[in-house]
Amino acid sequence: MNILLTGGLGFIGSHTAVVLAQQGHQVVILDNLCNSQMEVLANLESITGKKLRFYEADIREGLALRKILSDNQIEAVMHFAGLKSVAESAQDPLKYYDNNVCGTINLIEAMQAEKINKFIFSSSATVYGVPQYLPYDEDHPLEPINTYGKTKLQVEEILQDLVKSDPSWSVVALRYFNPVGAHESGLIGESPKGVPNNLMPYICQVASGKLPHLNIFGDDYETKDGTGERDYIHVMDLAEGHVAALNFVNQHPGFHAINLGTGVSYSVYDLIGAFEQAANSMIVRKVQPRRSGDLAIYYAKADKAKNLLGWQAKRDLQVMCKSGWNFHKQKS
Ligand code: NAD
Ligand code: UFG
Repeated sequence: MNILLTGGLGFIGSHTAVVLAQQGHQVVILDNLCNSQMEVLANLESITGKKLRFYEADIREGLALRKILSDNQIEAVMHFAGLKSVAESAQDPLKYYDNNVCGTINLIEAMQAEKINKFIFSSSATVYGVPQYLPYDEDHPLEPINTYGKTKLQVEEILQDLVKSDPSWSVVALRYFNPVGAHESGLIGESPKGVPNNLMPYICQVASGKLPHLNIFGDDYETKDGTGERDYIHVMDLAEGHVAALNFVNQHPGFHAINLGTGVSYSVYDLIGAFEQAANSMIVRKVQPRRSGDLAIYYAKADKAKNLLGWQAKRDLQVMCKSGWNFHKQKS
């Protein structure tokens, strides 16, 4: 199929591009490079051995979008483009509503005009908010506690209304848990601009000596060792989940929200331990107060993805740490 990946040079989009191209799909990438670099494209081409079509464009540019969709006879869109910092979304909410919500409306309007109605959306486990029970299943109440999460929920609601108004649309909102790791080649991975917010890229920079120590945000949570627990998922598992979702949208109109997680939670200390083994180095750490807005623990019920998509995560914490470190070493 001819598939447009918005945000396809970013962390999750680039890994998905590899799997799609390797399965024979025609991948077209659109990205405004606000959080990625052009060199990712060359690395994608070297991993896949294929030339990929790329457009430096913004999802808020309606006319450009329509031309890209029609020139490439796009049949389905995977929508990764978005801003994702919880902290920044609190400081600059309008930027987040504009990019994530208005940008998505613009994209689906362009799709509607070009009569394309297969859509896979990058949602997030953040849409659930404070756990009322765990694991979160897809029917858990949706009460995000930060602006970033609200933008994801608003888009899900817009997509649901769209499907109600026109049942020929086929939409899957994939609610990702905590993606980590990198492609086995070490050519693509997660490379945040500035000081990382997330645990795994921060640990990598401590291991390589770029940062002096890891801050552990709280060791007094009601979790197995006092540190926060999350459902870390290998980005290649996530990428394969998108291919499964593509097969699904081809046959199932309607709106479907599906968790992509492993169903297992690991603590900050678990991740540090696995990383130290994988990288054969000690991670200097300092316990700090809790980070505001953090939840103690959450993880996915992953049964819906297994039942509907026939997909299940298969890579373990060691593989996540090894591949993440391998990418970081090659890059630095
Ligand atoms: P990323 O920042 O690495 O990739 C997003 C890409 O979108 C970047 O290349 C950026 O340049 C591009 N982009 C942003 N706004 C754009 C716009 N207006 N027009 C065109 N391109 C634009 O992020 P990621 O980790 O790959 O995340 C992909 C998607 O998954 C995002 O929507 C994010 O909110 C969602 N998500 C990510 C996580 C995570 O922890 N990484 C978790 C849950 C959901
Ligand atoms: N943590 C530290 N030190 C750090 C960074 C994180 O101790 O330097 C801890 C956090 O307190 C938390 C855990 O490591 O307990 C994971 O934190 P991350 O920042 O890696 O991830 P979050 O769970 O906070 O959030 C991530 C993304 C969100 C996304 C969410 C989806 O940042 O955008 O996963 O589940 F919505």
